[in-house]
Amino acid sequence: MTIELTGKAAMITGAAQGIGEASARIMAGRGAAVMLTDINEAGVKAAAAAITAAGGRAIGMAMDARDEASIRAALDASCAAFGRLDILHNNAGGTDPARDAQALEMTNETWREVFAFNMDSIHWGCKHAIPLMIAGGGGAIVNTVSGAALVGMSNQIAYGSAKAAAASYTRYIAVQYGHKNIRCNAIAPGLIMTPNALEVLPANIVKALTKHNTLPRNGRPEDIGELAAFLASDAAGYINGQLIRVDGGSGIRSAHDADNRDIMGLG
Ligand SMILES: NC(=O)c1ccc[n+]([C@@H]2O[C@H](COP(=O)([O-])OP(=O)(O)OC[C@H]3O[C@@H](n4cnc5c(N)ncnc54)[C@H](O)[C@@H]3O)[C@@H](O)[C@H]2O)c1
Repeated sequence: MTIELTGKAAMITGAAQGIGEASARIMAGRGAAVMLTDINEAGVKAAAAAITAAGGRAIGMAMDARDEASIRAALDASCAAFGRLDILHNNAGGTDPARDAQALEMTNETWREVFAFNMDSIHWGCKHAIPLMIAGGGGAIVNTVSGAALVGMSNQIAYGSAKAAAASYTRYIAVQYGHKNIRCNAIAPGLIMTPNALEVLPANIVKALTKHNTLPRNGRPEDIGELAAFLASDAAGYINGQLIRVDGGSGIRSAHDADNRDIMGLG
């Protein structure tokens, strides 16, 4: 079976740039009608216009993923525009490492903000998308989480915890609505060279993160978009409740291996 999305309608959050934009572009290229949503209205409209100019079917709409009513309005608009909803890519998320660092210094405001953006948004997306999908016979949800959900780190405790909650939530949705033909899977990206990652992460942190990569190149937004399109397609029709790492193998590498490699003179 090939990865074909013709006849399907998708909504993607955080789609003005980075991973969400790549996911939208790839899904549209496989034939899906795509609603791109983002807090950056000008950016998301430009991203949708570029897809349309390339021959795809896309609309861009302003949406704030921290606001349930805004997510619901975007899902309703998507369904109204395309007549159905088959795919939801809950992708919007992120954190401010300057405020989201270690537990004892964390303000409650930052904690709540990060959870609203990275976890509540996914709950609201699922809550309002699933009835629309069931009405059309089923659907596929893809949640962008993070490798940070699977480890412990010296910074970003709220982000890592919220992404871990989202990974767990993915399994619960898969179990609770699988019998209605709703599949829900999560992608855990490692470092992906998106505008946001390059902007918020200091160069020395990027260097430390890329040191554990097993492959000779860094992650690209398209690496995540390709998997999102696959998971959304009928080719993945028997995959439900899974968390898949896309990280160049950095997550499975022994903590000491990159240093060992240097010591062994393997380059
Ligand atoms: N880039 C990485 O290395 C990496 C690694 C692991 C996980 N992730 C996750 O991937 C997802 C996408 O990240 P990215 O790197 O592409 O980021 P990005 O900043 O490049 O893109 C994120 C998009 O979300 C939009 N956005 C910001 N606030 C929003 C809001 N309140 N409502 C709606 N949209 C909003 C931004 O305008 C932007 O277009 C996030 O969930 C992030 O946590 C990224």
